[in-house]
Amino acid sequence: MNEAGFPKASKEERLSISADRESTRRVVSSSPEETESLGEKLAEKLSSGAVVALFGELGAGKTCFIRGVCRGLKVKEKITSPSFIIINHYRGTLPVYHIDLYRLKSHQEFLCLGYEEYLFGEGVTLIEWAEKAEPYLPPETLSVSMRIVDETRREVRFSREPR
Ligand SMILES: Nc1ncnc2c1ncn2[C@@H]1O[C@H](COP(=O)(O)OP(=O)(O)OP(=O)(O)O)[C@@H](O)[C@H]1O
Ligand SMILES: [Mg+2]
Repeated sequence: MNEAGFPKASKEERLSISADRESTRRVVSSSPEETESLGEKLAEKLSSGAVVALFGELGAGKTCFIRGVCRGLKVKEKITSPSFIIINHYRGTLPVYHIDLYRLKSHQEFLCLGYEEYLFGEGVTLIEWAEKAEPYLPPETLSVSMRIVDETRREVRFSREPR
């Protein structure tokens, strides 16, 4: 039973509920341009305080996707991976925080970034290598997991479920 006194849904029921709500969606992008367009489309749905966590190996297309999100949010600056700086701030229709955790060595280092200001702030936060900060991501985070299929194709999975 849950707190409201209803019986808990079985695993099968929960899976079908999440399928109904389309909480997980998979698409295959066939080019960098298509991946950017996916990001641009997502931007329409983002509002103040949104957090988008990007997962996927080197070259999976995370920065490419973020470039599209930023285009959708009317950011004028050039979007590059902020590998050395860790966080880039841009200004579009909303403030945008582009965080790349690739070089992060520990969770402790993440805590030292003052992440609350970003994750619980006014802007949209886009995080590459989000696995490095997974315990600190807000529950409403949108996960975008990218996988290299071949030279030009990338599988992109959108999910609101915790990974
Ligand atoms: N369908 C595709 N979508 C996105 N990128 C693609 C696609 N096909 C080929 N590519 C190439 O893959 C590379 C993706 O690079 P990108 O910097 O976006 O990856 P990344 O996931 O941010 O990597 P990193 O972990 O190093 O930051 C680019 O060179 C791009 O041209
Ligand atoms: Mg990148």
